[in-house]
Amino acid sequence: MARRVLFFEPGDLSKRDRGAMRRQVARDAHEERPPKKRRRERALPEAAVSGPFGPGLAEGGYWNLARPSIPAHQATSRQIAGIYPFVADAGLGHHGPILGVDLNADALFHFSPWEAYANKTDRQTLSTNVLVLGAYRAGKSATIKTLVTRSLAFGHQAVVPSDPKGEWVTVAEAIPDGVVIRIGGGSTARLNPLDRGPRRADADDHQDEKMVRQRRITTLVSLVEMALGSTKLTAVEHAALHEALERSIRSTGDRPTLRNVYEHLGAIVEDAGTDFRMSDGAVQPRFVLRRFVDGDLSGLFEDESTVAFDADAPIVVVDTSELFSRSELVAQLTQVCTTAWIQAVVSDRSAKRTRYLIREEGWRDMTSLAALQMFQQWLKLSRHYGISNIVILHKMGDLDAVGDADSRERNLAYSIVGDIENKFIFRANHQEAAALRDRLNIPATHVEDARRLRMGVFLAYVGQYAYVVDCFATSTDWEYELFATDSALEQNDEGDGKPYLFDPDELDRFWPDDSPTDTSLDGWLSPTWKETPQ
Ligand SMILES: Nc1ncnc2c1ncn2[C@@H]1O[C@H](COP(=O)(O)OP(=O)(O)O)[C@@H](O)[C@H]1O
Ligand SMILES: [Mg+2]
Repeated sequence: MARRVLFFEPGDLSKRDRGAMRRQVARDAHEERPPKKRRRERALPEAAVSGPFGPGLAEGGYWNLARPSIPAHQATSRQIAGIYPFVADAGLGHHGPILGVDLNADALFHFSPWEAYANKTDRQTLSTNVLVLGAYRAGKSATIKTLVTRSLAFGHQAVVPSDPKGEWVTVAEAIPDGVVIRIGGGSTARLNPLDRGPRRADADDHQDEKMVRQRRITTLVSLVEMALGSTKLTAVEHAALHEALERSIRSTGDRPTLRNVYEHLGAIVEDAGTDFRMSDGAVQPRFVLRRFVDGDLSGLFEDESTVAFDADAPIVVVDTSELFSRSELVAQLTQVCTTAWIQAVVSDRSAKRTRYLIREEGWRDMTSLAALQMFQQWLKLSRHYGISNIVILHKMGDLDAVGDADSRERNLAYSIVGDIENKFIFRANHQEAAALRDRLNIPATHVEDARRLRMGVFLAYVGQYAYVVDCFATSTDWEYELFATDSALEQNDEGDGKPYLFDPDELDRFWPDDSPTDTSLDGWLSPTWKETPQ
């Protein structure tokens, strides 16, 4: 083994002392040196040609006339302290599908929320939910699509309760047996948001029963409150809705529908037997539900479901893009209905499945306290159902759509998001910096890093550890073609002749960065051809 002698000399030695010291060092080094061993003792084969020249001179092989001379490295102790060889991270481990390159470990980054949960080391996470946050076109959707498509081979499944841009439809269509449920736009599919979902074998499970009740009433209340424009229901209106739902559950044998609840509300209004205040309370909710029964939203959610949820399908996408283009309110109401239906049909613990539930436009339907509390409970319970919720947010400010400033709703929304243990943070705009620090407790240095991340690179917080991951470095051409969302943009750009409106956040992408390069994190990976600006 090579031996090295390091010596430190005080800075204030006289020339003589320094000479004496160096001689002493040389003597010591020489004395310490073990006696030279013969080639045979070192178990090396005899050279074919003995002597200082190998066979090289004659035959073109090696020749070993002199040893290479490597100049001694000189540095101050302060600099030497910086050459610490062990800065590479060990990484998260190698369970689950590859999601990208772990730039700190210089290794492949494998991720599966269920594997990370089952991990019994200190890299463990206590939740299977993931918050995905980042600027527009930072690569959030593409990364989650990568995770989902690569997870299929591991037996995991995925469901997108509401795909507002229709971008997951292409993914589902490219996967054998993938299912797309199209809502609106001439499709005959009906979803009943009050569906009970699969009955579980252990019928006396109180939690399940409670969940179903809460989901149904929350759905009804959310729909009515939304349509009324964020006015809160009065206690009487609440009671009337409850009563109508109860009657509907009884009269239909636990198969309530919006139409049936609407009819019961009508009966409560007209029935002289009911309390007159209750009759009053039933009026408003009834008018709202009328919109579903014979208004602009009829033919979508008011009757029994006509589509069955295919529990075996690798991926199920509910395409709501047609409804989302109608109006913001229609989009919200749609999202409430489809999400309620999906939650109902996937809440089946006995099926022993592992499923991603991807919420693309996270907070549209989270306007009431009840809806938020319901969602909070859903996030807690979903692990028991084998579900990993992936909540994709464009910016923390999206939550400002929830309630008024400093309202209970707004604070609850922030705390729900802050409580999601695993986070993938993509490139963030500088306006986001404060929110990342304060709301999500991301260290300030990481927030700085997050501002300079390339497309497809993200900070992954899994349990107690953080990783820097480049997802696009591992993309295949098939994935790139499938996940590219540019073509839709370009078509839009030329197609209708209207000027293309820049999203203000998108401008950030073209803004000169204050840091000239991104060498700090991943400079060693040169940009791939896919990233060269088109
Ligand atoms: N594997 C890939 N490699 C490089 N670029 C990709 C890849 N997949 C998608 N993209 C591009 O990255 C951009 C980000 O897209 P997207 O994931 O939809 O962003 P976000 O959801 O964050 O708004 C798109 O322009 C898309 O074409
Ligand atoms: Mg997206």
